[in-house]
Amino acid sequence: MLENRHVISVRDFTREEIEVILDHAERMEEVYERGGDDRLSGKVLATLFFSPSTRTRLSFETAMLRLGGDVISLVGKEAASTAKGENLADTVRTVEKYCDAIVLRHPKEGAARLAADYASVPVINAGDGANQHPTQTFLDLYTIRKEKGRIEGLKVGLMGDLKYGRTVHSLAYALALFGAEIHLISPEELRMPRYIVRELEEAGAADVEEHRDVRPILGELDVLYVIRIQKEMFPDPEEYERVKGSYRITRELIEEHAREDLIIMHPLPRVDEVDPDVDELPQARYFDQVRNGVVVRMALLDLLLGGEE
Ligand code: NCD
Repeated sequence: MLENRHVISVRDFTREEIEVILDHAERMEEVYERGGDDRLSGKVLATLFFSPSTRTRLSFETAMLRLGGDVISLVGKEAASTAKGENLADTVRTVEKYCDAIVLRHPKEGAARLAADYASVPVINAGDGANQHPTQTFLDLYTIRKEKGRIEGLKVGLMGDLKYGRTVHSLAYALALFGAEIHLISPEELRMPRYIVRELEEAGAADVEEHRDVRPILGELDVLYVIRIQKEMFPDPEEYERVKGSYRITRELIEEHAREDLIIMHPLPRVDEVDPDVDELPQARYFDQVRNGVVVRMALLDLLLGGEE
């Protein structure tokens, strides 16, 4: 069902297909724990990263290596022929001759979709501007399901820069698909775009509630998912100056208002929106997400490259 599929947006996947990925990731745990196997031996993954990344690129690369495959990598616009004026379509029609799948991160929305139009191998969107980041969503859903045993019916707060945060754009849609109760928590200026809220409702989210402050709702939440302000996405530096530092999760806030069984998630990188001393609290899960990202990407690569579901 997933062999040779492009992974551009969560909207291209049904709930059942996402569950196939999560179930396969569960089976991958054991492979990960024993350091990997060689099921992708002879396969090559190309990672093309035209905007910054630590976790996404390295976790894809380690996932491929752990399954016995190989990796070729192009990092930064300056290093590629893009700097000489080559367009993305030509780059993709070149790179596909070298590999069995392409992971692409690009500053422009829609870049991954365009790449997929030109590629005969699967293209995986690792983030296109402020638009989508589907594989982050798969690992986020995996983490929630692993920690809570389900997704349906959970109260999930998405907090921070909901305007420019591609991780929450992808995740909110998937949460709606899985029947979670969605709470959007952000300063007025960083609200979730209206078209996405409408899409959430169409995808089945009952009442999407919006909040300016986390405090009144914190005690009800099962999951609090925080993201940084996406400074590099702001078209106007003054707009950024107005909102910077406008929300922050502190240890006191969690200890006073949150449930013991809350889980706090974050795709990372963190800037100043989650205090470092929150890391010591039993609710913090962001470094578990990093680990789960490897397992989920192992599962995804295996499925796209022909592994059994
Ligand atoms: C996120 C991204 O790149 O969108 N990081 C990630 O992939 N883990 C989140 C962010 O940059 O804030």
